[in-house]
Amino acid sequence: MSDAKRLAAEKAIEYVEPGSIIGVGTGSTVAWFIDALGRMEDRIKGAVSSSDQSSELLRAAGIDVYDLNATGPLSLYVDGADECDPHKRLIKGGGAALTREKIIAEASARFICIVDPSKQVDVLGKFPLPVEVIPMARSLVAREILAMTRAQPVWRQDANERGVVTDNGNLILDIHGLAITDPLALESAINQIPGVVAVGLFARRAADVVIVGGEPLRIL
Ligand code: 5RP
Repeated sequence: MSDAKRLAAEKAIEYVEPGSIIGVGTGSTVAWFIDALGRMEDRIKGAVSSSDQSSELLRAAGIDVYDLNATGPLSLYVDGADECDPHKRLIKGGGAALTREKIIAEASARFICIVDPSKQVDVLGKFPLPVEVIPMARSLVAREILAMTRAQPVWRQDANERGVVTDNGNLILDIHGLAITDPLALESAINQIPGVVAVGLFARRAADVVIVGGEPLRIL
């Protein structure tokens, strides 16, 4: 799959305007994109990053990282996804960066999503849906999600079986066993639960363009 990810990432470079400040997401596909950004002959001015991990990669590639408050609206955001449906609605947050990803997607005129073919689905939900929660609300949010969806929220753990802590100091619940027939309604309903910071459903702000790497490469 890494070849397909690389091909999608390299295609996305064609959408990047030299001299601009762009939004950059998180994950292994985006790591290929940052690598390609670093090799661009006409450099970008800089990037707004969705995670500490991507900020580190960007700086290592010689790209300045900007605060979104200082840049204002962005023309372009490039990020990967965990699932993508035929309407370009996404599940994101496998890398626990969903909240900043949502903020940058909202701030950007154009959102280009770069994926390998395994990410394409007809109905979202096979990939557990990530929800970032304020620590004290973890159990409350889990109970409300279970009551609402009948699907099981699981507190995400790291390799040492400690709760994963996001760059914002919060926790992640992954909702297993969903078949999301109305992504817009579910995104809105989960957002209403007190203690939810963000849900990894990108339906209200879906991708504008999806580049599916591989042979042949496809642009949706
Ligand atoms: C991070 C994300 C990533 O975009 C998503 O997990 C895809 O990652 P990868 O490109 O490694 O498959 O949403 O929060």
